[in-house]
Amino acid sequence: MSQTRAPVSIVTLISGRGSNMRSIVESVAAQRIRGQVAAVISNCPQAQGLNYARGQGIATDVVDHTLYPDRTAFEKDLTVAIDRHRPGLIVLAGFMRILTPAFVHRYLGRMLNIHPSLLPRYPGLSTHQRVLDAGDDTHGVSVHFVTPELDGGPVIAQCRIPVLKNDTAETLADRVLSEEHRLYPEVVGWFCEGRLQFGAGGIRFDDLPLSAPIQRSYQSTDPA
Ligand code: GAR
Repeated sequence: MSQTRAPVSIVTLISGRGSNMRSIVESVAAQRIRGQVAAVISNCPQAQGLNYARGQGIATDVVDHTLYPDRTAFEKDLTVAIDRHRPGLIVLAGFMRILTPAFVHRYLGRMLNIHPSLLPRYPGLSTHQRVLDAGDDTHGVSVHFVTPELDGGPVIAQCRIPVLKNDTAETLADRVLSEEHRLYPEVVGWFCEGRLQFGAGGIRFDDLPLSAPIQRSYQSTDPA
């Protein structure tokens, strides 16, 4: 890691609980991420994660999508709220709004998302139940660069978990979330160290093209 690189200003967008945001804030505090969470912004005034961020002394903002006539008007104010912090990285952490291509292009190459499935399988909602309904024996989490296609951007890294015989959507969600809290800070750390880029040629990691998602294996929380 270059010691001369300035810490990256990170703006995190959340819609609810904010546990992924919290895992990133904790990793910054533990100096595992060479960045600084400059702001946590939510589209939901009641988002639980806002309270945690305020408690950590992090700037928070709310851009309530219900107060706008359309996505473009909402995103115009969201952009102002984001750009105020001059972010080098935008982290979507359970931000449950569909984004317009114009918004995505503004932050292309510096906006990440986490999604609870092994993309390209199961973009969208209810991923855990869909895995069970399909009878899959493997599930997991993906971190990807955001492109205009919903949950469709190039995947940087994934972590797999086995689907167990007695799993429900809730037990699966819990085990996937544990892996999310490890994978997302790790990928954000790579980005902030300058190890990860996304451009016309696709993803580059450590100066080499990334031809397939990096597979991480944590899983220490799985029952035997
Ligand atoms: C996480 O499971 C995240 O992967 C998912 O929302 C949850 C947010 O939890 N995101 C998506 O489904 C995006 N398509 P959190 O608010 O506790 O981080």
